[in-house]
Amino acid sequence: MVYAMKKGRLIKTSILLAVAALLCVPGVIGYKNGAVAVNSMADSKKIALTFDDGPHPYYTEQLLDGLKERGVHATFFVMGKHVELYPEMIERMNEEGHLIGNHTYSHMQLNKGNGEEFKQELIRTNEVIENLTGQEVQYVRPPYGTWDKKFEKELNMFPVLWTIDPLDWCSDNVACIVQKVTDKAQENAIILMHDEYKSTVTAALQIVDALQEQGYEFVTVDEILFD
Ligand code: NI
Repeated sequence: MVYAMKKGRLIKTSILLAVAALLCVPGVIGYKNGAVAVNSMADSKKIALTFDDGPHPYYTEQLLDGLKERGVHATFFVMGKHVELYPEMIERMNEEGHLIGNHTYSHMQLNKGNGEEFKQELIRTNEVIENLTGQEVQYVRPPYGTWDKKFEKELNMFPVLWTIDPLDWCSDNVACIVQKVTDKAQENAIILMHDEYKSTVTAALQIVDALQEQGYEFVTVDEILFD
C-alpha cells in the first residue's frame, strides 16, 4: 500500500517533470507543497502601469474598458476629492481587480510646515476609498514624490514612486509617449501616467499592446514590490 502510493507519487512527479521539460526547462521554478510548480509564463517579465490624479469621469472609464479588454490590471493613485465626485469609478476598479492607492485628498505637496495637514489628507482619502471598497489602502504615491518616512509607521502605508515617467501630462503626442515608455521598458519597471487625458488613455493601451507582444506581463505594484 505504502509502496503503491509512493510509486504513484513518483510516477506523477516524473510526468510533471516531463511535461515541464517539454514546455520549457527554465519554467520549472521549484517545489511547492510537494508538487512541481511550473511557471506557465516562463518568459514573462513583470511591469506595472500606474495612473495618478484620477478618477476622471470620462477618461478613467475609457481606460478601464481598454484594460479589461486586454486582461490587464493597473494601479490607480487617486485623489480623495475626485473619489468623492466619481465613486462609481472606484467601485469598478475594485471589482475589476485593479489596485487603488492614495494620492492625497487635494494633491497636496508635503513641505516642512504642513506635515500634520498632509497626514490628515492621507487619512481622509483612505477613509473615502475604504468606505467604497471595504479594503484597507496600503499604498501611497506622494504628489511630487516628497515624503516623510515617519508616516509609514504611523499610517501603515507604503510609498510607491516610479521608474519611467513619459511626462504624459505635458504632451498630447501619443506616439511620443508610447516611444518614451517602450524605449525604457524593463522588468519590474513602474510606469507613471495620468488618467485624465485622452492621449494618455490611447498611449497607455498602445503601450500594453506593444509590451505584451514583447513578453511583458502587466501587474499591480504590490506584485513588483513584494514578490
Ligand atoms: Ni499627481
